[in-house]
Amino acid sequence: MKAAIAVLPGDGIGPEVIPHAVKVLEQVATQFGHHFTFRTADVGGAAIDKTGRPLPDTTLQLAKESDAILLGAVGGPKWEGLDYPVRPERALLGLREQLGLYANLRPAKLYPMLADASTLKREVILGIDLLVVRELTGGIYFGQPKGIEKTPEGERGFNTEVYTTREIERIAKVGFEAARKRRHKVTSVDKANVLESSELWRRVVTSVAKRYPDVELHHLYVDNCAMQLVRNPSQFDVLVTTNLFGDILSDEAAMLTGSIGMLPSASVGGKVGMFEPIHGSAPDIAGKDQANPIATIASAAMLLTYAFNLDKEATTVEQAILHVLEQGYRTKDIHSEGTALVGTQEMGRLILQELGR
Ligand code: IPM
Ligand code: MG
Repeated sequence: MKAAIAVLPGDGIGPEVIPHAVKVLEQVATQFGHHFTFRTADVGGAAIDKTGRPLPDTTLQLAKESDAILLGAVGGPKWEGLDYPVRPERALLGLREQLGLYANLRPAKLYPMLADASTLKREVILGIDLLVVRELTGGIYFGQPKGIEKTPEGERGFNTEVYTTREIERIAKVGFEAARKRRHKVTSVDKANVLESSELWRRVVTSVAKRYPDVELHHLYVDNCAMQLVRNPSQFDVLVTTNLFGDILSDEAAMLTGSIGMLPSASVGGKVGMFEPIHGSAPDIAGKDQANPIATIASAAMLLTYAFNLDKEATTVEQAILHVLEQGYRTKDIHSEGTALVGTQEMGRLILQELGR
């Protein structure tokens, strides 16, 4: 197949890890007879430095014209003093909104050989294989009214959690469909004991579930879910939740597996999907050849699956990652005694080499 991929490296370790994922995609194209073209654009802080805006029109245009987007990370201390509307993070929110990417898929799977890299006990985390399905274009992130206003008693900051039936229905469907390809279990996470938006959420998810009699549905309050995730995470298959709860729970789920440096994500629902590692820009290790490129390479694998339906190709990439880990190579974030410490470049090279075998 022929496809155009927009590459947005962004900030911090983004530009260090992205080239390895691009090389992997190039190699996949060669091996399987596809034709991928790559066009790069600035996003986040890198774009602010050049244009004054985190998401320049040219970048958005390129994203819209492409068949898939591969993004590194945005943000860093350099831009933290800026006003909210021009912060690097706005680029992510803008892309999600403009491209209609309402479903964010964040798998958290334990690589067994990394069990000791987790801060949790081996017996707690063995068997973790869950998928967080986070609603991404609604909820308190986008709800109106929002702002900071002056009042006689001082300033008042406010945001609004809003969900419509339509928004809940479509994300619930993504969750149930995903569960059908997995272990047929959905846990919907809300705060229906306190929030009206969650009361509706629970009602709508329950009604969507009727169309999926083969999928088991459970409901959990978010505080209980946060606790269950550290108590017994392997009970979960698919978690479906709101934008804010998903933001928090997906970080928690990621950490269970040992390293946030391992986990990919996909944002889908619109015409063009966006694929990115979940780790962020990690400015503290940027430029040191320490970053783990695996999350980004695994995001390229998700791109192959979700954007192009190239399951076989995606599996090949995942296998290459697995084999390099089996051989004992580790970046600093997942390094433990008895394994071989390698940098970003070397890890990227090893995976590419493995892929070519
Ligand atoms: C994420 C991030 C973003 C979010 C920030 C950077 C806007 O934390 O993708 O999880 O809150 O969605
Ligand atoms: Mg987050």
